[in-house]
Amino acid sequence: MMGIDLGALLTQDSAAVYLVGASLLLSVAALVLSSALLLRWGRNRHPPVAEAAIPTYDETRRQVLAEGARAPSPVVGARDAHAAAQRALRSTKGEGVATDRLGTWTPETLRHLLKTELTGAQVIVVSNREPFIHDLEEGGAVKLRAPAGGLVAALDPVMRTCAGTWIAHGSGSADHLTVDAHDRIAVPPDNPSYTLRRVWLSEHEEKHYYYGFSNDGLWPLCHVAFTRPSFNAEDWEVYEAVNKRFADVVVEEARDERPVVLIQDYHFALLPRMIRERLPDAIIITFWHIPWPNAEIFGICPWRERILDGMLGSSVMGFHTQYYCNNFIETVDRFLESRIERDSSAVTFGGHTTHVHAHPISIEWPPASLSRQPPVPASRRAIFDRFNLAPDMKLCVGVERFDYTKGIIDRFRAVEELFKRHPEWIGRMVVLQVAAPSRTALPAYQQCQRECLDFVDELNARYGHEGYQPIHLLNESYGKDEVYGLLRAADLCMVTSLHDGMNLVAKEFVAAREDEQGVLLLSSFAGAAKELPESIIINPYDTCGTADALLRGLTMSPEEQRERMRRMRETVRENNIYRWAGNMLLDGARLRKRHHTANVTARLARQQAARGALSRTALGRTPLGRNVVRLVSMGKGKNVEPSHF
Ligand code: F6P
Repeated sequence: MMGIDLGALLTQDSAAVYLVGASLLLSVAALVLSSALLLRWGRNRHPPVAEAAIPTYDETRRQVLAEGARAPSPVVGARDAHAAAQRALRSTKGEGVATDRLGTWTPETLRHLLKTELTGAQVIVVSNREPFIHDLEEGGAVKLRAPAGGLVAALDPVMRTCAGTWIAHGSGSADHLTVDAHDRIAVPPDNPSYTLRRVWLSEHEEKHYYYGFSNDGLWPLCHVAFTRPSFNAEDWEVYEAVNKRFADVVVEEARDERPVVLIQDYHFALLPRMIRERLPDAIIITFWHIPWPNAEIFGICPWRERILDGMLGSSVMGFHTQYYCNNFIETVDRFLESRIERDSSAVTFGGHTTHVHAHPISIEWPPASLSRQPPVPASRRAIFDRFNLAPDMKLCVGVERFDYTKGIIDRFRAVEELFKRHPEWIGRMVVLQVAAPSRTALPAYQQCQRECLDFVDELNARYGHEGYQPIHLLNESYGKDEVYGLLRAADLCMVTSLHDGMNLVAKEFVAAREDEQGVLLLSSFAGAAKELPESIIINPYDTCGTADALLRGLTMSPEEQRERMRRMRETVRENNIYRWAGNMLLDGARLRKRHHTANVTARLARQQAARGALSRTALGRTPLGRNVVRLVSMGKGKNVEPSHF
């Protein structure tokens, strides 16, 4: 840049000197003016630090609390959750919980937990299946029906306690007639304790979202039962659209921006992300009720990344067993760029962390149905009379949805094997199999049903005789009370699933037997086998082995039955449904506290940076310099912003 030689200029034409002088003056004036303008611009964008009072830590904390969070406990982490659970259990001891039951979760424990750990949080459950179905009968009467399946059996008692909102597909023919103008109905009808919000699906949506992607794709994909999953683009598109619709309804039902949303099952893999985008501060706990396969198997799904991404919108991803959790983490590791902390079982993807935890689902303890049952001998007599069974007949029972994963035909094969090897049992044992119609529109289900019915016809023809039918295959749905009646009547309960997330019938059988009698045959491929090793564990693919186990069960002494049943009852009592829900909600409460702490920390960090900027200004920095410092401090603040939980 050229300098200005004033001496030389003075010897030149004075007009030129005036010109240069004037231009110098003009430059200085422009500089002053532009600085002033810059200062004003800066003030408008970011009010000077000195003008705004910087809040103290306590003020910041109060402000964050006022935004809806509760005061955090000083410690966060697993020990904190354990302590909270202990507190909840202790504090309910005086509320009618017997001393020997201290440590057993009850509805009171859960209620207490909601009150103390998640004050004011609204609980929203989302599932495809609704807990109460209203059907229109011939003649126009409306009939109430409880669907078959473990999900609703497990969650209904929890919702009766939490008093929240349950969003589900309204699938009954009279469902429309029983809701209010907002598609809501208070349930259970005899003792309204929570709200059911029904979502209507068209036939087309049901075909592609429920039968198609959910049950013809994800169901066989996640169950290793050697049924080929089928994937097609239209199913996927409708699945995505229905997930979106449920997200709309969750947002509509949310009373504030911080609900606790409990998403259930494989029908809603995309929902966690969709809700996270619209309610970033929600606690989203997703529970996958079926197994999670290994990465190779899951990898055949054409939309694997989208599904994983959707699920990772959750704060907590729950599975029944640690094995499924490990499979899930391996799958994420294989297909997504993410950070995995194996020690804490956490996955960070796109700046958001999801905790992957095993939460074995269970049943209420004691089951409400038990209070309506007669003593065990009377239950037994009722069933024996109904099916015309001789008093010394050994009764084996099975209760499930008619599903190819349940290994129903496999247990019949084992019965046949027993008859072949031990013909003395022909005429001395009977199987009562309840197989509730399920997903009957799908060819794989139709085939499974046909094969079972044919097999039973042949077996009964071969081994039955006048007054004796070895297998009664009841292709109908039983209500809870009827199921408990049947389980109480049995000598042996057969759970021979080829693959099963948990299997709650195994736990119901145990709960039904306060007489401490009865033998449980349980597939090693059901999640329940991890919790109930005192059952007779079988491999349903091994027909001879299962027949041996059947024989062992039929001949087990009452003492051994008592010993095994007692242990299993302790387990199911302790690991009941209130504990399952309580532990998941504690996970949620813990994350909310962490979120809260991270919020306070981030805010303080921003304020500290702002204080630094102020002191530099006070030391005489230029306005431009101050703005630069402020922008830098804002950038820092942004970096320490916590990810959503
Ligand atoms: O076991 C998986 C599951 O989706 C459960 O969660 C549910 O109880 C059961 O299947 C019932 O299936 P559906 O709702 O298709 O009748």
